[in-house]
Amino acid sequence: MSTLTQSRAWLALKLHREQFAATRMTDLFATDPQRFKNFSLRVHDVLLDYSKNLVNAETMQLLVALARERGLGAEIQRLFNGDKINVSEDRAVLHTALRDGVPVRVDGNDVMPEVKATLARMRAFADGVRDGSLGGRGGRKITDVINVGIGGSHLGPALATAALAPYAAGGSRVHYISNVDAAAVQRTLAPLDPATTIAIVESKTFTTTETLTNAKLVRDWLGVPAGADAGNQLVAVTANTRLAAEFGVTTDRVFPCWDWVGGRYSLWSAMGLPIALGIGMDNFEKLLHGAREMDAHFRDAPFDRSMPVVLAVLGVWYNNFFGAASQAILPYDESLALLPAHLQQLDMESSGKQVTRDGETVDYDTGMIIWGATGTNAQHSFFQLLHQGTRLVPADFIAVCEPHHAMPHSHAILLSNFFAQTAALMNGAPADGFPGNRPTNSILVQKLTPHSLGMLLALYEHKVFVQNTIWGINAFDQPGVELGKRLASGILPDLEAATAAGRYDASTTGLINFYKINRHS
Ligand code: F6P
Repeated sequence: MSTLTQSRAWLALKLHREQFAATRMTDLFATDPQRFKNFSLRVHDVLLDYSKNLVNAETMQLLVALARERGLGAEIQRLFNGDKINVSEDRAVLHTALRDGVPVRVDGNDVMPEVKATLARMRAFADGVRDGSLGGRGGRKITDVINVGIGGSHLGPALATAALAPYAAGGSRVHYISNVDAAAVQRTLAPLDPATTIAIVESKTFTTTETLTNAKLVRDWLGVPAGADAGNQLVAVTANTRLAAEFGVTTDRVFPCWDWVGGRYSLWSAMGLPIALGIGMDNFEKLLHGAREMDAHFRDAPFDRSMPVVLAVLGVWYNNFFGAASQAILPYDESLALLPAHLQQLDMESSGKQVTRDGETVDYDTGMIIWGATGTNAQHSFFQLLHQGTRLVPADFIAVCEPHHAMPHSHAILLSNFFAQTAALMNGAPADGFPGNRPTNSILVQKLTPHSLGMLLALYEHKVFVQNTIWGINAFDQPGVELGKRLASGILPDLEAATAAGRYDASTTGLINFYKINRHS
């Protein structure tokens, strides 16, 4: 039995859970008229209402006690101090240093001078592209930027670019290519002009097959001969400057990323260059300031008043004591359409593990399945299951008070649904077959700005950190992605060989042969 499931706090929660078997949220509101006030938190212009949850004050005390018993306080300090908490790779984890601006040492060296120098280089490049002093091929003004990357070298930057589109006036049009499916390359390149387009190749390792395959296609389209000096047409963000130079990226167009920044935590680094090219460096730095504000809240707030801790322990409550397998992310805001995908990688690539930092196989559930879509679309696709299905699916509803558009009636309709759905999920309508008692969190942001987006994304980064501290998991490696990559690189030669495949299981062999017979109509 694991230390976690034998801990005092865990056993107390198991006992407490039994008391909740028949508890209805509506009863909790009836006995506490101040429940909304007592179960909501506010940081700057972000409100978290967690009153529509299957918790009472004692539940929250027990959950916070669990986090404390698992050493969360010390772990938070270790995170910000640059201790090597990524134990399997012997690395510090310092995405916080990218936005906090205070000295912090890795292997005795303060990283802040290089962080600040990189921000200055980003600013010089972004300003030059935006004002035209840095041109593309033949010095032509750059109108379009293609970002080629995948995973954390794609999802966070693409989300921020989309979310902050209202701030992109006067900036470059930024396009994202990630999947190796060449349909994406074809669709992206078709309307663009190689004379006024540049490409940013984002790859921490500079070995990711999808990214290098796409980067070669884009380099050819740009008309840059392999190995030639690409000038401004090719930029790289990588920890592997040698491979970037071999690819043809001029040295002063290679921006660093460091091994103490994990891919899914890297949009705050030079991986955020496409964001800055779109919205400008001033707004990019406001994004960093928002994350910095959430960092300060996470470092300083008492656990029971800490947004990341509250979100995290609520997830542990449903995951480990109610058996909920998934968590829905429901932004009622089309600008945040990519948020579920970003949080899928952030959460599931961090928490999808079954061995603890100490090498013990867990005897409890860890990472939840993160999924979601924007409201109100989601109401016309999967809300039937949320309301009347047999499964408990805790959900985070996210919306803004003030939109960037000037259609207030549409926004009022959107928000009326945002409010109605969480109420309906809680209250239900038993006579009509709606059981209710289904938990949700409501996050309201005054307006989606670079600052508030930075706060929101950092909030979820720290939520994941707290959950993995409780579960004893190393949130910062991703060994599970390697096996598939290895097998794929072994299969590829068979797909391009004339002979039939034969050294796989019968299914894989059969599938490969069907493909090879049918790939030319
Ligand atoms: O999915 C595995 C992974 O290593 C992610 O963690 C990372 O964000 C992505 O692949 C891309 O890696 P790179 O930036 O090295 O190309």
